[in-house]
Amino acid sequence: MDNSTLAVKHLTKFFGKKQALSNITFECQKGHIVGLIGANGAGKTTIMKSILSMIKSDGDISINGQTSTFDNHKILSEVGSLIEYPGIYPYMSGRDHLKIFTDDTKDKAQRIQDIITELNLKDYIDKRAKGYSLGMKQKLGIAMALVNDPSLVILDEPMNGLDPKATKDLRELILKKKAAGTTFLISSHILGELQKLAEDLIVIDHGKVIKKTTMASLLENNNHYLTLSTNNDPQTFDILKQANYTICSTDPLKIILPSEKSVENIMELLASNNITVRDLRHIDDDLEDSVLKIIAK
Ligand SMILES: Nc1ncnc2c1ncn2[C@@H]1O[C@H](COP(=O)(O)OP(=O)(O)OP(=O)(O)O)[C@@H](O)[C@H]1O
Ligand SMILES: [Mg+2]
Repeated sequence: MDNSTLAVKHLTKFFGKKQALSNITFECQKGHIVGLIGANGAGKTTIMKSILSMIKSDGDISINGQTSTFDNHKILSEVGSLIEYPGIYPYMSGRDHLKIFTDDTKDKAQRIQDIITELNLKDYIDKRAKGYSLGMKQKLGIAMALVNDPSLVILDEPMNGLDPKATKDLRELILKKKAAGTTFLISSHILGELQKLAEDLIVIDHGKVIKKTTMASLLENNNHYLTLSTNNDPQTFDILKQANYTICSTDPLKIILPSEKSVENIMELLASNNITVRDLRHIDDDLEDSVLKIIAK
């Protein structure tokens, strides 16, 4: 028995003649946060809707070892989700939404109270949802996805419309649930945020998986750069070029750093040519740079 909470195999979807998904296969291991990345229209939401039986697609879905099909998906009771926009009734309060969504267990009231505190909803939870802002609705939708402590949580662009404080609250809550064993599949265009959360990544392009990797290995293969400001940048340029460093730009002077040791070598080289270094900065490619490179390929 493997350790995957979600296994998706050969997922294929046509909308009329248009193929939206082509043979999508991936797994989410228990307790992992998996990021689903891709351009607008790549197929992220379609994958999530297929897993959740919101649309009918071909392929095999297995959740916690049980097969889930469009017509037989009892196992989805163990899944929490927020896809695109939360379905919210304008004349009900946020608390009423949570009451409807929360399973009838004896700690129901406590669980509702906990999620209100964790996502900081208390100021508006008892007001009618018709007066909520975009971010308030989004937070309520996330609260509804998490309140039952599901073993698998699927969130489509969860950071949409959230302010920096709410984004941080959500990140901390996701990491806390992950530490307790919850598995997450999260799509996001906010790659800087995903970089702080996801350990596994699936990159989708035109309905196909183009890369499955871990965040660590993706970032490890990234370029590292050095920018320099000196008392004589043109001369520094010539010296570094002669020493075969790859120069990315001249203003500011930016080079690719082949290894950590090369900082020392560069400093020695410049000092021996009487160059004074005024400022020196290390810059690393981030997730956004890596993803752009993958998609460009
Ligand atoms: N109900 C639908 N009818 C027809 N085509 C659809 C439908 N839903 C999605 N598509 C098409 O399927 C493809 C994938 O769409 P999807 O919404 O999954 O993309 P996405 O990766 O979620 O994009 P975004 O980042 O913009 O949310 C797109 O080409 C889209 O036009
Ligand atoms: Mg989408």
